[in-house]
Amino acid sequence: MGQFYIKGGIPLEGELRVQGAKNAVLPILAATILNQGESVIHNVPDLKDVKTMIKILESIGCSIKKEENTLIVNSSAIHTNEIPEYLVREMRSSIILLGAILAKHKQAKFSYPGGCDIGHRPIDLHLKSFRELGAEVMESHGYIYCKSNNLKGTHIQLDYPSVGATENIMLAASLTEGITIIRNAAKEPEIQELQNFLNKMGCKIKGAGSNTIIIEGVKKLNNVEFTIMSDRIVAGTFAVAAAITGGQIVLKDCYIEHISSVISKLIEAGCNVYSIEDKIVINSSKKIKAVETIRTLPYPGFPTDMQAQMMALMTVAKGTSIFTETIFENRYKHVSQLIRMGANINIDGRIAVVKGVNKLFGAKVTATDLRGGAALVLAGLSAEGETIVDNIYHVDRGYENFEENLQSLGASIIRKE
Ligand code: UD1
Repeated sequence: MGQFYIKGGIPLEGELRVQGAKNAVLPILAATILNQGESVIHNVPDLKDVKTMIKILESIGCSIKKEENTLIVNSSAIHTNEIPEYLVREMRSSIILLGAILAKHKQAKFSYPGGCDIGHRPIDLHLKSFRELGAEVMESHGYIYCKSNNLKGTHIQLDYPSVGATENIMLAASLTEGITIIRNAAKEPEIQELQNFLNKMGCKIKGAGSNTIIIEGVKKLNNVEFTIMSDRIVAGTFAVAAAITGGQIVLKDCYIEHISSVISKLIEAGCNVYSIEDKIVINSSKKIKAVETIRTLPYPGFPTDMQAQMMALMTVAKGTSIFTETIFENRYKHVSQLIRMGANINIDGRIAVVKGVNKLFGAKVTATDLRGGAALVLAGLSAEGETIVDNIYHVDRGYENFEENLQSLGASIIRKE
Protein backbone atom coordinates (compact mmCIF):
# COMPACT_ATOMS: atom_id res chain seq x y z
CA MET A 1 0.00 0.00 0.00
CA GLY A 2 3.05 2.30 0.32
CA GLN A 3 4.26 4.58 3.06
CA PHE A 4 5.83 8.02 3.37
CA TYR A 5 8.70 8.43 5.84
CA ILE A 6 8.96 12.07 6.86
CA LYS A 7 11.47 13.87 9.08
CA GLY A 8 9.82 17.07 10.25
CA GLY A 9 11.08 20.52 11.15
CA ILE A 10 12.57 21.75 7.85
CA PRO A 11 11.12 25.08 6.57
CA LEU A 12 10.13 24.63 2.90
CA GLU A 13 11.81 26.96 0.45
CA GLY A 14 11.80 27.34 -3.32
CA GLU A 15 9.57 27.49 -6.37
CA LEU A 16 7.07 24.94 -7.61
CA ARG A 17 4.87 24.64 -10.69
CA VAL A 18 1.35 23.53 -9.78
CA GLN A 19 -0.01 20.44 -11.62
CA GLY A 20 -3.16 20.32 -13.76
CA ALA A 21 -6.46 20.11 -11.92
CA LYS A 22 -7.80 16.63 -11.13
CA ASN A 23 -11.38 17.80 -10.71
CA ALA A 24 -11.26 19.60 -14.05
CA VAL A 25 -9.69 16.80 -16.06
CA LEU A 26 -12.11 14.06 -14.92
CA PRO A 27 -15.32 15.64 -16.33
CA ILE A 28 -13.37 16.81 -19.39
CA LEU A 29 -12.26 13.24 -20.08
CA ALA A 30 -15.92 12.19 -19.75
CA ALA A 31 -16.80 14.93 -22.27
CA THR A 32 -14.43 13.43 -24.87
CA ILE A 33 -17.12 10.79 -25.48
CA LEU A 34 -19.36 13.43 -27.03
CA ASN A 35 -17.49 14.38 -30.21
CA GLN A 36 -16.88 10.88 -31.60
CA GLY A 37 -13.55 12.23 -32.77
CA GLU A 38 -10.24 13.36 -31.38
CA SER A 39 -9.61 15.37 -28.22
CA VAL A 40 -6.07 16.48 -27.43
CA ILE A 41 -5.74 17.44 -23.77
CA HIS A 42 -2.58 19.01 -22.36
CA ASN A 43 -1.41 19.43 -18.76
CA VAL A 44 -3.13 16.23 -17.60
CA PRO A 45 -1.81 15.29 -14.15
CA ASP A 46 -0.42 11.76 -13.76
CA LEU A 47 -2.78 10.51 -11.04
CA LYS A 48 -4.47 7.30 -9.99
CA ASP A 49 -7.96 8.75 -10.66
CA VAL A 50 -6.91 9.84 -14.16
CA LYS A 51 -5.55 6.33 -14.85
CA THR A 52 -8.88 4.86 -13.72
CA MET A 53 -10.78 7.24 -16.03
CA ILE A 54 -8.48 6.21 -18.92
CA LYS A 55 -9.22 2.52 -18.17
CA ILE A 56 -12.96 3.29 -18.19
CA LEU A 57 -12.80 5.11 -21.53
CA GLU A 58 -10.74 2.29 -23.03
CA SER A 59 -13.22 -0.29 -21.70
CA ILE A 60 -16.02 1.30 -23.74
CA GLY A 61 -13.95 1.54 -26.93
CA CYS A 62 -11.99 4.83 -26.84
CA SER A 63 -8.38 4.68 -27.92
CA ILE A 64 -6.01 6.79 -25.87
CA LYS A 65 -2.41 7.82 -26.49
CA LYS A 66 -0.30 9.39 -23.79
CA GLU A 67 2.65 11.64 -24.54
CA GLU A 68 4.05 12.97 -21.27
CA ASN A 69 1.24 15.14 -19.84
CA THR A 70 -0.82 15.12 -23.04
CA LEU A 71 -3.64 12.68 -23.70
CA ILE A 72 -5.05 12.10 -27.16
CA VAL A 73 -8.47 10.51 -26.88
CA ASN A 74 -10.26 9.11 -29.90
CA SER A 75 -13.90 8.28 -29.21
CA SER A 76 -14.99 7.29 -32.72
CA ALA A 77 -15.24 3.55 -31.98
CA ILE A 78 -17.23 3.35 -28.75
CA HIS A 79 -18.96 -0.06 -28.77
CA THR A 80 -20.77 -0.26 -25.43
CA ASN A 81 -22.65 1.93 -22.97
CA GLU A 82 -21.89 -0.30 -19.98
CA ILE A 83 -19.00 0.47 -17.67
CA PRO A 84 -17.39 -2.45 -15.80
CA GLU A 85 -18.54 -2.48 -12.19
CA TYR A 86 -15.03 -2.83 -10.71
CA LEU A 87 -13.98 0.43 -12.40
CA VAL A 88 -17.04 2.32 -11.11
CA ARG A 89 -16.13 1.08 -7.64
CA GLU A 90 -12.54 2.24 -8.06
CA MET A 91 -13.64 5.81 -8.59
CA ARG A 92 -16.91 7.20 -7.33
CA SER A 93 -16.74 10.20 -9.65
CA SER A 94 -17.11 7.85 -12.64
CA ILE A 95 -20.81 8.79 -12.29
CA ILE A 96 -19.82 11.83 -14.37
CA LEU A 97 -19.79 9.55 -17.44
CA LEU A 98 -23.50 8.89 -17.18
CA GLY A 99 -24.54 12.27 -18.67
CA ALA A 100 -22.15 11.96 -21.61
CA ILE A 101 -23.06 8.33 -22.39
CA LEU A 102 -26.75 9.16 -22.15
CA ALA A 103 -26.43 12.10 -24.52
CA LYS A 104 -24.39 10.19 -27.08
CA HIS A 105 -25.65 6.63 -26.86
CA LYS A 106 -29.23 7.09 -25.62
CA GLN A 107 -28.91 4.44 -22.96
CA ALA A 108 -26.56 3.49 -20.15
CA LYS A 109 -26.16 0.81 -17.50
CA PHE A 110 -24.17 1.73 -14.45
CA SER A 111 -23.46 0.03 -11.16
CA TYR A 112 -24.53 2.22 -8.24
CA PRO A 113 -21.39 4.01 -7.02
CA GLY A 114 -22.45 3.86 -3.35
CA GLY A 115 -20.63 5.51 -0.46
CA CYS A 116 -16.97 6.32 -0.15
CA ASP A 117 -14.33 7.16 2.41
CA ILE A 118 -15.77 10.61 3.20
CA GLY A 119 -19.33 9.44 3.72
CA HIS A 120 -22.55 8.45 2.02
CA ARG A 121 -22.53 10.21 -1.36
CA PRO A 122 -25.98 10.21 -2.90
CA ILE A 123 -26.57 10.82 -6.62
CA ASP A 124 -30.26 11.67 -6.36
CA LEU A 125 -29.73 15.16 -7.85
CA HIS A 126 -28.02 13.67 -10.92
CA LEU A 127 -30.81 11.16 -11.51
CA LYS A 128 -33.64 13.66 -10.84
CA SER A 129 -32.09 16.01 -13.41
CA PHE A 130 -31.83 13.27 -16.05
CA ARG A 131 -35.51 12.48 -15.45
CA GLU A 132 -36.36 16.16 -15.87
CA LEU A 133 -34.52 16.13 -19.20
CA GLY A 134 -36.83 13.28 -20.23
CA ALA A 135 -34.74 10.19 -19.48
CA GLU A 136 -36.24 7.01 -18.08
CA VAL A 137 -34.19 6.11 -15.02
CA MET A 138 -34.63 2.79 -13.21
CA GLU A 139 -32.74 1.71 -10.11
CA SER A 140 -32.69 -1.99 -9.43
CA HIS A 141 -30.39 -4.48 -7.63
CA GLY A 142 -27.55 -1.97 -7.31
CA TYR A 143 -27.71 -0.88 -10.95
CA ILE A 144 -28.98 2.26 -12.66
CA TYR A 145 -30.55 1.84 -16.09
CA CYS A 146 -31.11 4.98 -18.16
CA LYS A 147 -32.82 5.39 -21.51
CA SER A 148 -33.04 8.66 -23.32
CA ASN A 149 -34.63 8.55 -26.73
CA ASN A 150 -36.58 11.73 -26.05
CA LEU A 151 -34.30 14.09 -24.18
CA LYS A 152 -35.47 17.72 -24.41
CA GLY A 153 -34.02 20.93 -23.03
CA THR A 154 -35.75 22.06 -19.85
CA HIS A 155 -35.40 24.20 -16.70
CA ILE A 156 -33.65 22.40 -13.85
CA GLN A 157 -33.62 23.88 -10.37
CA LEU A 158 -30.99 22.09 -8.29
CA ASP A 159 -31.89 21.71 -4.60
CA TYR A 160 -28.17 22.03 -3.84
CA PRO A 161 -25.35 23.37 -6.05
CA SER A 162 -23.77 19.95 -6.56
CA VAL A 163 -20.58 20.05 -8.62
CA GLY A 164 -21.05 16.59 -10.13
CA ALA A 165 -24.77 17.06 -10.88
CA THR A 166 -24.12 20.43 -12.58
CA GLU A 167 -21.40 18.83 -14.75
CA ASN A 168 -23.55 15.80 -15.58
CA ILE A 169 -26.43 18.03 -16.71
CA MET A 170 -24.06 20.12 -18.85
CA LEU A 171 -22.76 16.95 -20.52
CA ALA A 172 -26.22 15.45 -21.08
CA ALA A 173 -27.76 18.73 -22.30
CA SER A 174 -24.98 19.63 -24.76
CA LEU A 175 -26.35 17.32 -27.44
CA THR A 176 -29.99 17.59 -26.34
CA GLU A 177 -32.46 19.44 -28.51
CA GLY A 178 -33.63 22.77 -27.08
CA ILE A 179 -32.37 24.99 -24.29
CA THR A 180 -31.57 23.70 -20.82
CA ILE A 181 -31.26 26.17 -17.96
CA ILE A 182 -29.63 25.06 -14.69
CA ARG A 183 -30.50 27.23 -11.70
CA ASN A 184 -28.66 27.07 -8.39
CA ALA A 185 -25.77 25.57 -10.37
CA ALA A 186 -22.39 24.96 -8.74
CA LYS A 187 -19.99 27.85 -9.38
CA GLU A 188 -16.63 26.06 -8.96
CA PRO A 189 -13.82 27.02 -11.39
CA GLU A 190 -13.88 23.42 -12.68
CA ILE A 191 -17.41 24.06 -14.00
CA GLN A 192 -16.12 27.04 -15.99
CA GLU A 193 -13.29 24.87 -17.26
CA LEU A 194 -15.79 22.25 -18.47
CA GLN A 195 -17.80 24.99 -20.21
CA ASN A 196 -14.61 26.25 -21.93
CA PHE A 197 -13.75 22.75 -23.10
CA LEU A 198 -17.26 21.96 -24.34
CA ASN A 199 -17.56 25.29 -26.17
CA LYS A 200 -14.22 24.67 -27.86
CA MET A 201 -15.71 21.37 -29.01
CA GLY A 202 -18.66 23.22 -30.55
CA CYS A 203 -21.20 23.34 -27.70
CA LYS A 204 -23.17 26.48 -26.91
CA ILE A 205 -23.01 27.03 -23.15
CA LYS A 206 -22.90 30.24 -21.14
CA GLY A 207 -23.13 31.27 -17.53
CA ALA A 208 -20.71 28.82 -15.87
CA GLY A 209 -19.21 30.45 -12.80
CA SER A 210 -22.58 32.03 -11.97
CA ASN A 211 -25.56 30.20 -10.47
CA THR A 212 -27.42 30.03 -13.81
CA ILE A 213 -26.02 28.05 -16.72
CA ILE A 214 -27.70 28.07 -20.13
CA ILE A 215 -27.03 25.22 -22.56
CA GLU A 216 -28.30 25.32 -26.11
CA GLY A 217 -28.22 21.81 -27.53
CA VAL A 218 -26.26 21.25 -30.75
CA LYS A 219 -26.28 18.33 -33.18
CA LYS A 220 -22.63 17.76 -33.95
CA LEU A 221 -19.32 18.49 -32.31
CA ASN A 222 -15.77 18.89 -33.59
CA ASN A 223 -12.27 17.76 -32.65
CA VAL A 224 -10.70 19.78 -29.88
CA GLU A 225 -7.36 20.72 -28.30
CA PHE A 226 -7.33 22.06 -24.74
CA THR A 227 -4.96 22.78 -21.83
CA ILE A 228 -6.16 21.98 -18.29
CA MET A 229 -5.94 24.77 -15.70
CA SER A 230 -3.87 24.36 -12.54
CA ASP A 231 -5.18 22.56 -9.48
CA ARG A 232 -6.39 25.00 -6.82
CA ILE A 233 -6.49 22.36 -4.09
CA VAL A 234 -2.91 21.27 -4.78
CA ALA A 235 -1.88 24.95 -4.72
CA GLY A 236 -3.69 25.36 -1.39
CA THR A 237 -2.03 22.23 0.02
CA PHE A 238 1.47 23.50 -0.82
CA ALA A 239 0.60 26.95 0.56
CA VAL A 240 -0.33 25.28 3.87
CA ALA A 241 2.86 23.18 3.68
CA ALA A 242 4.86 26.43 3.57
CA ALA A 243 2.82 27.87 6.45
CA ILE A 244 3.13 24.82 8.73
CA THR A 245 6.92 24.59 8.28
CA GLY A 246 7.56 28.33 8.68
CA GLY A 247 8.88 28.42 5.12
CA GLN A 248 8.69 30.64 2.09
CA ILE A 249 7.64 29.27 -1.29
CA VAL A 250 6.52 30.55 -4.68
CA LEU A 251 3.79 28.68 -6.55
CA LYS A 252 3.94 29.11 -10.31
CA ASP A 253 1.15 28.84 -12.91
CA CYS A 254 -1.78 29.28 -10.59
CA TYR A 255 -4.66 31.69 -10.09
CA ILE A 256 -4.88 33.36 -6.69
CA GLU A 257 -8.60 34.09 -7.18
CA HIS A 258 -9.34 30.35 -7.26
CA ILE A 259 -8.03 29.94 -3.71
CA SER A 260 -8.86 33.34 -2.25
CA SER A 261 -10.86 31.75 0.59
CA VAL A 262 -7.79 29.71 1.61
CA ILE A 263 -5.38 32.62 1.20
CA SER A 264 -7.54 34.86 3.38
CA LYS A 265 -7.39 32.26 6.19
CA LEU A 266 -3.59 32.01 5.82
CA ILE A 267 -3.34 35.80 6.09
CA GLU A 268 -5.57 35.71 9.19
CA ALA A 269 -3.15 33.12 10.58
CA GLY A 270 -0.28 35.58 10.17
CA CYS A 271 1.27 34.53 6.84
CA ASN A 272 2.32 37.06 4.26
CA VAL A 273 0.71 36.02 0.95
CA TYR A 274 0.64 37.94 -2.30
CA SER A 275 0.57 37.33 -6.03
CA ILE A 276 2.74 38.52 -8.90
CA GLU A 277 1.21 37.68 -12.29
CA ASP A 278 0.58 33.92 -12.22
CA LYS A 279 2.75 33.31 -9.14
CA ILE A 280 1.70 33.20 -5.50
CA VAL A 281 4.27 33.93 -2.78
CA ILE A 282 3.66 32.45 0.68
CA ASN A 283 5.90 33.62 3.49
CA SER A 284 5.35 32.19 6.94
CA SER A 285 8.12 33.42 9.16
CA LYS A 286 6.03 34.17 12.27
CA LYS A 287 4.18 31.92 14.76
CA ILE A 288 0.85 30.82 13.26
CA LYS A 289 -2.25 32.30 14.95
CA ALA A 290 -5.48 30.35 15.26
CA VAL A 291 -8.20 31.27 12.77
CA GLU A 292 -11.39 31.45 14.82
CA THR A 293 -13.85 29.87 12.40
CA ILE A 294 -13.45 27.77 9.30
CA ARG A 295 -16.70 26.73 7.67
CA THR A 296 -16.65 24.66 4.49
CA LEU A 297 -19.03 25.90 1.81
CA PRO A 298 -19.63 25.62 -1.94
CA TYR A 299 -17.34 27.86 -4.04
CA PRO A 300 -16.40 30.66 -3.49
CA GLY A 301 -16.59 29.62 0.19
CA PHE A 302 -13.84 27.68 1.96
CA PRO A 303 -13.40 24.34 0.11
CA THR A 304 -14.14 21.09 1.91
CA ASP A 305 -11.14 19.69 0.01
CA MET A 306 -8.87 22.01 2.07
CA GLN A 307 -10.47 21.40 5.47
CA ALA A 308 -8.10 18.63 6.60
CA GLN A 309 -4.92 20.46 5.50
CA MET A 310 -6.02 23.68 7.25
CA MET A 311 -6.82 21.64 10.35
CA ALA A 312 -3.27 20.23 10.37
CA LEU A 313 -2.03 23.84 10.38
CA MET A 314 -4.38 24.89 13.19
CA THR A 315 -3.15 22.04 15.43
CA VAL A 316 0.09 24.02 15.90
CA ALA A 317 -1.46 27.53 15.94
CA LYS A 318 -1.61 29.82 18.96
CA GLY A 319 -5.23 29.68 20.18
CA THR A 320 -8.41 27.78 19.35
CA SER A 321 -10.09 27.26 15.95
CA ILE A 322 -13.57 25.97 15.26
CA PHE A 323 -14.20 23.99 12.08
CA THR A 324 -17.67 23.32 10.67
CA GLU A 325 -17.84 20.75 7.86
CA THR A 326 -21.08 21.48 6.01
CA ILE A 327 -20.48 19.54 2.76
CA PHE A 328 -19.64 15.95 3.70
CA GLU A 329 -20.91 14.13 6.78
CA ASN A 330 -17.87 12.00 7.52
CA ARG A 331 -14.86 14.11 6.73
CA TYR A 332 -13.01 14.12 10.06
CA LYS A 333 -11.29 10.73 9.77
CA HIS A 334 -7.87 12.42 9.84
CA VAL A 335 -8.63 13.77 13.34
CA SER A 336 -7.83 10.55 15.23
CA GLN A 337 -4.53 10.36 13.33
CA LEU A 338 -3.61 13.98 14.12
CA ILE A 339 -4.37 13.24 17.78
CA ARG A 340 -1.82 10.38 17.64
CA MET A 341 0.72 13.07 16.75
CA GLY A 342 -0.17 15.17 19.80
CA ALA A 343 -2.95 17.40 18.42
CA ASN A 344 -5.76 18.56 20.73
CA ILE A 345 -9.01 18.18 18.78
CA ASN A 346 -12.59 17.49 19.89
CA ILE A 347 -15.37 16.59 17.48
CA ASP A 348 -19.09 17.01 18.00
CA GLY A 349 -20.98 16.03 14.85
CA ARG A 350 -19.97 18.44 12.11
CA ILE A 351 -17.99 20.69 14.49
CA ALA A 352 -14.32 20.19 15.36
CA VAL A 353 -12.64 22.31 18.03
CA VAL A 354 -8.87 22.51 17.58
CA LYS A 355 -6.77 23.84 20.45
CA GLY A 356 -3.31 24.66 19.18
CA VAL A 357 -0.35 22.85 20.80
CA ASN A 358 3.31 23.92 20.81
CA LYS A 359 4.37 21.16 18.46
CA LEU A 360 3.36 17.81 17.00
CA PHE A 361 5.44 14.66 17.45
CA GLY A 362 6.27 12.10 14.77
CA ALA A 363 4.12 8.95 14.88
CA LYS A 364 2.91 6.10 12.68
CA VAL A 365 -0.39 7.24 11.13
CA THR A 366 -2.73 6.00 8.41
CA ALA A 367 -4.21 7.97 5.53
CA THR A 368 -7.94 7.27 5.32
CA ASP A 369 -8.80 9.48 2.35
CA LEU A 370 -7.12 11.73 -0.21
CA ARG A 371 -7.09 15.13 1.49
CA GLY A 372 -6.92 13.67 5.01
CA GLY A 373 -3.78 11.81 3.86
CA ALA A 374 -2.26 15.04 2.53
CA ALA A 375 -3.01 16.67 5.90
CA LEU A 376 -1.04 13.94 7.69
CA VAL A 377 1.94 14.56 5.40
CA LEU A 378 1.76 18.29 6.25
CA ALA A 379 1.56 17.48 9.96
CA GLY A 380 4.61 15.20 9.54
CA LEU A 381 6.57 18.01 7.87
CA SER A 382 6.14 20.15 10.98
CA ALA A 383 6.40 17.42 13.66
CA GLU A 384 9.42 16.68 15.80
CA GLY A 385 10.98 13.35 14.82
CA GLU A 386 9.87 10.81 12.22
CA THR A 387 6.34 10.36 10.92
CA ILE A 388 5.30 7.33 8.88
CA VAL A 389 2.13 7.80 6.82
CA ASP A 390 0.62 4.49 5.73
CA ASN A 391 -1.89 3.76 2.91
CA ILE A 392 -0.59 6.57 0.72
CA TYR A 393 -2.46 5.24 -2.31
CA HIS A 394 -5.19 7.64 -1.16
CA VAL A 395 -2.79 10.57 -1.59
CA ASP A 396 -1.71 9.31 -5.03
CA ARG A 397 -5.30 9.81 -6.22
CA GLY A 398 -4.81 13.57 -6.25
CA TYR A 399 -1.14 14.61 -5.98
CA GLU A 400 1.30 14.10 -8.84
CA ASN A 401 4.89 13.39 -7.69
CA PHE A 402 3.96 14.57 -4.19
CA GLU A 403 7.16 13.53 -2.46
CA GLU A 404 9.44 14.70 -5.32
CA ASN A 405 7.77 18.12 -5.25
CA LEU A 406 8.14 18.38 -1.48
CA GLN A 407 11.78 17.21 -1.73
CA SER A 408 12.43 19.95 -4.32
CA LEU A 409 11.35 22.45 -1.63
CA GLY A 410 13.80 20.92 0.86
CA ALA A 411 11.52 18.47 2.72
CA SER A 412 12.83 15.18 4.04
CA ILE A 413 10.26 12.69 2.74
CA ILE A 414 10.74 9.33 1.04
CA ARG A 415 8.35 6.69 -0.27
CA LYS A 416 8.69 3.00 0.61
CA GLU A 417 6.54 0.45 -1.20
C1 UD1 B 1 -16.82 17.38 -6.17
C2 UD1 B 1 -15.32 17.16 -6.13
C3 UD1 B 1 -14.86 16.91 -4.69
C4 UD1 B 1 -15.33 18.02 -3.78
C5 UD1 B 1 -16.83 18.25 -3.94
C6 UD1 B 1 -17.34 19.46 -3.15
C7 UD1 B 1 -14.84 16.13 -8.27
C8 UD1 B 1 -14.40 14.92 -9.01
N1 UD1 B 1 -14.99 15.99 -6.95
O1 UD1 B 1 -17.43 16.17 -5.72
O2 UD1 B 1 -13.43 16.84 -4.69
O3 UD1 B 1 -15.07 17.67 -2.44
O4 UD1 B 1 -17.16 18.48 -5.32
O5 UD1 B 1 -16.65 20.60 -3.52
O6 UD1 B 1 -15.02 17.19 -8.85
N2 UD1 B 1 -25.20 15.55 -3.02
C9 UD1 B 1 -26.45 15.02 -2.89
N3 UD1 B 1 -27.03 14.47 -3.98
C10 UD1 B 1 -26.40 14.42 -5.19
C11 UD1 B 1 -25.13 14.97 -5.32
C12 UD1 B 1 -24.54 15.54 -4.21
O7 UD1 B 1 -27.05 15.03 -1.81
O8 UD1 B 1 -27.00 13.90 -6.15
C13 UD1 B 1 -24.53 16.14 -1.83
C14 UD1 B 1 -23.27 15.35 -1.45
O9 UD1 B 1 -23.58 14.25 -0.65
C15 UD1 B 1 -22.48 16.38 -0.70
C16 UD1 B 1 -22.83 17.68 -1.45
O10 UD1 B 1 -24.04 17.42 -2.16
O11 UD1 B 1 -22.94 16.48 0.62
C17 UD1 B 1 -21.76 18.14 -2.40
O12 UD1 B 1 -21.52 17.16 -3.37
P1 UD1 B 1 -21.06 17.51 -4.85
O13 UD1 B 1 -20.93 18.99 -5.01
O14 UD1 B 1 -21.94 16.78 -5.79
O15 UD1 B 1 -19.60 16.88 -4.88
P2 UD1 B 1 -18.99 15.93 -5.98
O16 UD1 B 1 -19.34 16.41 -7.33
O17 UD1 B 1 -19.27 14.53 -5.61
